[in-house]
Amino acid sequence: LFCITFLSLLLPNPTYFWAWKSQLSQPVADLVLRNGVIYTSDDSLPFADSMAVANGRVLRVGNRSFFQELEGYGTQVLDLGGKVVVPGFLDSHVHFIDGGLQMMQVKLRGVNKKEEFIRRIKDAAQSTKQGSWILGGGWNNDLWGGDLPAASWIDDVTPNNPVWLSRVDGHTGLVNSVALVLAGITNLTDDPRGGTILRTANGEPPGVLIDSARTLVASKIPEDSVDDRREALLRASNLALTRGVTMILDMGRYYRCDNKVSHALSEWIYIGGVKAFSDGSLGSNSALLYEPYVDHPDNYGVQVIELEALLNMTLESNLNGLLLLLVAIHAIGDKANDLILDMYVVCDSKSQMAQVGRL
Ligand SMILES: *[C@@H]1O[C@H](CO)[C@@H](O)[C@H](O)[C@H]1NC(C)=O
Ligand SMILES: *[C@@H]1O[C@H](CO)[C@@H](O)[C@H](O)[C@H]1NC(C)=O
Ligand SMILES: *[C@@H]1O[C@H](CO)[C@@H](O)[C@H](O)[C@H]1NC(C)=O
Repeated sequence: LFCITFLSLLLPNPTYFWAWKSQLSQPVADLVLRNGVIYTSDDSLPFADSMAVANGRVLRVGNRSFFQELEGYGTQVLDLGGKVVVPGFLDSHVHFIDGGLQMMQVKLRGVNKKEEFIRRIKDAAQSTKQGSWILGGGWNNDLWGGDLPAASWIDDVTPNNPVWLSRVDGHTGLVNSVALVLAGITNLTDDPRGGTILRTANGEPPGVLIDSARTLVASKIPEDSVDDRREALLRASNLALTRGVTMILDMGRYYRCDNKVSHALSEWIYIGGVKAFSDGSLGSNSALLYEPYVDHPDNYGVQVIELEALLNMTLESNLNGLLLLLVAIHAIGDKANDLILDMYVVCDSKSQMAQVGRL
């Protein structure tokens, strides 16, 4: 069974929000919020004006009169002046570690001048060890008139470091000449299947790699270290918290998931389910469609997995009709969606047969 797990990272646990009818006898709150509009999602009191917190947990939510007894020496009292308080948000689809890693790289989003583009790479080169990769992304050539960037823009400022810079859509990469040499890309290199090495009029590659041609260089970039990934997790967590996001579903690919039941990996992380792919994406012309792409009359997209294998995997995760692991299957094209929905129907009838068989 090849499957992809997705994890829920529980930051401060919002469940405790509802613990407002505290059984504790006379605890002292660290923090009391007053004069707010606090959404409780409890029908008996949907909005309250006060909330008490102790040890990072919500102690009580209610109206002012219930709070005097929780205030003691050291209690901080905050007047919200009518501001709204809601439980933490759940972001149900993120790529958390990747996002955190991007936060540690050169940011080119919004750059609208060649000079600024070069300046940011030059700054990055000054703080990067000789020989180490300079990674970054987010550039959009439409913002400076449309000309694609070239290795020649940045070669002078990066003589000793290979550079990899993704376009904002993720389908095109700019590399410098050091990276071209590392990857062995010359005017004689053939375009790989599904990709293009951009060429100048005289056949030289100026450093722009499209779709699968990106892997010629991307495969040379060392894997992120555990420390880098840990740092990425912290950065992404901090960003999430500044936006009020206290729980995330990470649609990540971490390990083969042979465990058949959802389970907690720790107090903060649990396996939410399994993820598989049925096709590619519209952006890369690989979503599976009934009709060909207008700009590629022979291309109907790609089906990336055999349907029977997907059915087997889904049945395993849904053994005897008991949802053991939540199944999430990526399907973008209309044909891919039909294939998956039909597959779910088969899966459902087989599961019911299995249940009947057991009775
Ligand atoms: C409690 O306070 C909220 C917000 O000020 C208010 O909407 C609600 O009517 C109050 N409930 C009671 C029972 O006083
Ligand atoms: C490729 O580049 C080399 C060195 O710049 C040059 O000698 C050769 O003629 C080029 N070949 C083609 C096919 O453009
Ligand atoms: C799917 O499961 C059936 C029944 O166990 C098996 O015969 C078949 O080979 C499996 N197919 C694939 C593609 O895994």
